[in-house]
Amino acid sequence: METVLSGIRSTGNLHLGNYFGAVKNFVKMQNEYNCFFFIADYHSLTTHPKPEDLHNNVKKVLAEYLAAGLDPEKSTIYIQSDVPEIPELYLLLNMNAYIGELERTTTFKEKIRTQPDNVNAGLLTYPVLMAADIIIHKANKVPVGKDQEQNLEMARKFAKRFNHMYNVDCFPEPSAFNFGKQLVKIPGLDGSGKMGKSEGNGIYLIDEPKVIRKKVMKAKTDSGPTQENQSKPEAIENLFTLMKVVSTNDTYEYFDEKYNKCEIRYGDLKKQLAEDIIKFNTPMREKIIDTLKNEEYLRKVANLGAQKARESASKTVKEVREIIGFKSF
Ligand code: TRP
Repeated sequence: METVLSGIRSTGNLHLGNYFGAVKNFVKMQNEYNCFFFIADYHSLTTHPKPEDLHNNVKKVLAEYLAAGLDPEKSTIYIQSDVPEIPELYLLLNMNAYIGELERTTTFKEKIRTQPDNVNAGLLTYPVLMAADIIIHKANKVPVGKDQEQNLEMARKFAKRFNHMYNVDCFPEPSAFNFGKQLVKIPGLDGSGKMGKSEGNGIYLIDEPKVIRKKVMKAKTDSGPTQENQSKPEAIENLFTLMKVVSTNDTYEYFDEKYNKCEIRYGDLKKQLAEDIIKFNTPMREKIIDTLKNEEYLRKVANLGAQKARESASKTVKEVREIIGFKSF
């Protein structure tokens, strides 16, 4: 069975874009692949979170993953910092990662531009830690968005380099993974682009009904269609895309027809959309809240995940240490 691995940074809550673009597929993938889902809390340190926030952020993401349907029995769900084999492999890989190639990474160059006061070595070697995350379980497939493609390319490079350097076939080359149909890209509510954490245009799984109503009612629209059957500008198309994933077909068709006949009232569409998002969100929100209260359960899940992840990771690190030439006395 092929191994799939996915990581998420422990900053920010899950939004509808994360859910429909990824997590919903993860739930199905659990039945067909050997899945590893982990929360990248070491990676989050590049932005220096406050100690009192670090654990809470991890806890929130864990509860949200579980509420969305990830199953700790079927998959290995764990916290990165519970697996000391990952930093060990990271250290070993760092010896064969070159400053030049790390400096040329788009995400690193972007950070230099956006946070010139905090260009730390962790940022520079971010792709090495990510490579360690992936190859420590000999993962074959990694579901990543466009923004992570270069990091995955680097992981492939480091895996190949290791194999080549020691003339071994230790690591498979991990490839990007699209499960099922075309990935649904969920747009933001600000008229362009995709829903993202940093953009502040998202609806979160944890958002309360009144927050959802407010966000949807504020979404960007225009003055309305002037010709029958005219194509929809991006901001309008975005609302329809959201409707497609949360509303019934009939509802979607109804508003689509109204648009095509130039009879649409965006206020009505938004009201309906908000209610349908709420209908979709509510059970998940309640589950997140319940799960967050259940410390005992969260502890059990994290411990089980750590145990399974370490079992897999320590096998790889043992093999790697032998290949490199470490021997115990
Ligand atoms: N860099 C990823 C992100 O920002 C998170 C991540 C860390 C990751 N390690 C990973 C993703 C390993 C996939 C595999 O979204």
